[in-house]
Amino acid sequence: MIDFTFQNPTRIHFGKTALSHLGEEVRRYGNRILLVYGGGSIKRIGLYDEVMALLKQENAQVWELGGIQPNPRLSPVRRGIELCRQNQVQLVLAVGGGSVIDTAKAIANGACYDGDVWDLFTGKGSNTEVLPLGTIVTIPAAGSEMSNSSVITREEDQCKCGRNTPLNFPAFSILNPEYTCSLPPYQTACGIVDIMAHMMERYFTQVENVELTDRMIEGALRTMLNNAPIVFEKPDDYDARAEIMWTGCLAHNTLLQTGRVGDWASHKMEHELSALYDIAHGAGLAIVFPAWMKYVLPRGGAKKLAQFARRVFEVPEAFGSEEAIAAEGIARLEAFYHSIGLTTTLHENSIGDQDFDRMAQRAVALAGGNLGFFLRLKAEDVKAIYQLAL
Ligand code: NZQ
Ligand code: ZN
Repeated sequence: MIDFTFQNPTRIHFGKTALSHLGEEVRRYGNRILLVYGGGSIKRIGLYDEVMALLKQENAQVWELGGIQPNPRLSPVRRGIELCRQNQVQLVLAVGGGSVIDTAKAIANGACYDGDVWDLFTGKGSNTEVLPLGTIVTIPAAGSEMSNSSVITREEDQCKCGRNTPLNFPAFSILNPEYTCSLPPYQTACGIVDIMAHMMERYFTQVENVELTDRMIEGALRTMLNNAPIVFEKPDDYDARAEIMWTGCLAHNTLLQTGRVGDWASHKMEHELSALYDIAHGAGLAIVFPAWMKYVLPRGGAKKLAQFARRVFEVPEAFGSEEAIAAEGIARLEAFYHSIGLTTTLHENSIGDQDFDRMAQRAVALAGGNLGFFLRLKAEDVKAIYQLAL
């Protein structure tokens, strides 16, 4: 285990009564509020009206920034920053999924930074202050409700760039699994893949003696495998939705990264896909992650992949060698993705090899020359992984 400092300051209100805590949070941070939301799902499920009614009870003044798209773009971030500055906003409240929350995070930071907000993503600038951010989560997936990341795409050059900083931890997050019952199966599936990927990125580490976090991840992955089929069969099964939602939060709140170095190559390779082709992040991960596993297996990855196969997918010793057990684990992961309605190849998503050079070079450049830590990847390795995903 390597040395670490762990702190996650986000207060979580979880369950059917979670929204009843909104009033006390508004009283804590201030009632001049920027409300950020997506394309309309919160209105369809009645959550918008509920939130507005609670804010009214607090005599809140609310400015709205709706219409945030999946794979969120930079322009609404700039609009949100203007709204915060013009109106002395005291609290940014995100109601939605990772795209809405990441937009709100960028706004909360950008409003406290004099220069161009994109500087914060490229590392050209930095801020020390941030507006308080609250989230009300409607899709378990990105884990942004308790994470230190924000991922935004700049439209001009389709550059999808993440920024990790403790300033990104929300002050509070409200998670009621009931809100997730309205998710279409495709979004539910993409969320499940993303949650599992956040744990798998951390699982595949070269750091030895990390049994506690290994076993926590294995247990949480098995929780996902057990509960996923239930929500496809019965979308309003509260208990299964609750298991998935809480796992999604813990998957990415940095606890499971303690004492180890995560890989994150698959995420960075996926960000290139969703930047260029605007596919859902989880759908992209279902394509990239198995290809990454196949690439690392013969390059020193067999031992850890075999452990994953045995403990998460119960692959029996009868499969023989470490390599064969590892390969069966990858096959079972792909079969799981298929079972929840996702595809695992680029061509099934009408994506060819025309942009592989560009994507590989940018992914490696954004990572500073080497992508990933389990296996250090150069651009030619990344390109080969995209080839494996075709
Ligand atoms: O826009 P609306 O109408 O709200 O519809 C959304 C959207 O179309 C819909 N949806 C959300 N809740 C719903 C619902 N539909 C019906 N009922 C509900 N209860 O779902 C669609 C997807 O929403 P989005 O916010 O894009 O999903 P997700 O949470 O997967 O976020 C994806 C973004 O997060 C980034 C991804 O790269 C991507 O840009 N990530 C952010 C991370 C972070 N900040 O820590 C980490 C992740 O690895 C990821 O990179
Ligand atoms: Zn992710």
